[in-house]
Amino acid sequence: MEKVRIGIIGIGNIGSSHVVRCNALPNTDLTAVCDVDPDAFKRIEESVRKRLQLYTDVEKFLSEAPIDAVIVAVPHYDHPDLAIAAMEHGKHVMVEKPIAVHKAEAERLLAAAKKYPKLIKGAMFNQRTSGAHQKIKQMIDGGELGKLKRINWIITDWFRSQHYYDSGDWRASWRGEGGGVLLNQCPHQLDLMQWFFGMPVKVRATAKLGKLHDIEVEDEVNAYLEYENGLTGNFIASTGEIPGTNRLEIMAERGRLVYEDGKLQFIRSERECSEYSKNTDKSFDLPDLWKCDISFSEPEFQQHYEVIRRFAEAILHGTPLVANMEEGIRALELGNAMLLSGLKEKTVELPIDAKEYSDMLTELVKTSRYHKKPVVKSVVDASEFAKSY
Ligand SMILES: NC(=O)c1ccc[n+]([C@@H]2O[C@H](COP(=O)([O-])OP(=O)(O)OC[C@H]3O[C@@H](n4cnc5c(N)ncnc54)[C@H](O)[C@@H]3O)[C@@H](O)[C@H]2O)c1
Repeated sequence: MEKVRIGIIGIGNIGSSHVVRCNALPNTDLTAVCDVDPDAFKRIEESVRKRLQLYTDVEKFLSEAPIDAVIVAVPHYDHPDLAIAAMEHGKHVMVEKPIAVHKAEAERLLAAAKKYPKLIKGAMFNQRTSGAHQKIKQMIDGGELGKLKRINWIITDWFRSQHYYDSGDWRASWRGEGGGVLLNQCPHQLDLMQWFFGMPVKVRATAKLGKLHDIEVEDEVNAYLEYENGLTGNFIASTGEIPGTNRLEIMAERGRLVYEDGKLQFIRSERECSEYSKNTDKSFDLPDLWKCDISFSEPEFQQHYEVIRRFAEAILHGTPLVANMEEGIRALELGNAMLLSGLKEKTVELPIDAKEYSDMLTELVKTSRYHKKPVVKSVVDASEFAKSY
């Protein structure tokens, strides 16, 4: 079978798990990895590490490593620069979520990407591949629910402890990360929101900074959304609740679809709600309702595996990606709109003013406790390091 030679930049939590995936998938050949911190290579299982080329210098990695494609898995602020550098070296690129920290940076990345129409550019929105999310999308797009009226997403099961926030010095600071629950945990749900429902035209939100943890950024958000077609929505996110909830409720003309606890249930109405409301001669009675448990199946390769597998297929055969990098700007803008609204205590219209957001973030960065350490070039040559394990 034909294989795509993959290299990964950033061998942290997620990058090291991508090592395992790229090693296991039938259409990828992991050949090289890069991390500014040589200790990161210890995360790779020894027998795998021995076969890989290890780099601590990104420029050298992109110029010399035997790779066709790169996965960028470093902290968010560096996503645009590293993805652009990869494209400049002629590499296909898969960027971790979020594709950037704010809209203006995403626009810079996408403008650069236009110069390389032949390269495949993907974004790691792995949750799109889950069977339930695929089914919800199919039911909305297929018209099964009828016109959508109101949505409600409570996504508070991203619990993170203080220990988690303290585990990476870049985390949960304006300077190191650039945001909190909207930028780190919720990009998946924000991407699903825009994939299912499109983009809202107005957002009004509250965003609480360090309410539930000793952190600089937002760890609780309550947002109200309005869409051009009359759809309204609520989005509630937190990283500090036990137990948390993941409940997506879609109220539509044909009934209510709920995804919660891994189950999808549709309470289907015999008649469309507004037609029934207009024409019935009863004041309180409801039309007949059917309770339907919706089954769905998971793909053979799940979540991140499927995103990487489809990335390699797209490179080899031109087939569609799970998510294009270009689409990543929408989830980012939605999160930026919520934070802008919450911190400026005003209703925000979309598309948002990218400069207003970046100016706000610049001010927040000035107050940030975090100071990035200068990158210390490893005294150990990466290939020497590999021999020592
Ligand atoms: N899709 C998902 O499910 C998922 C899950 C977790 C993390 N992520 C994303 O992956 C990214 C990384 O998160 P993480 O939790 O793995 O972080 P991490 O801190 O565990 O790892 C980051 C690694 O990148 C290295 N690094 C930092 N800057 C670098 C640079 N300029 N060049 C090369 N290496 C560099 C660090 O040394 C570290 O080893 C984040 O953007 C995060 O949002 C996605």
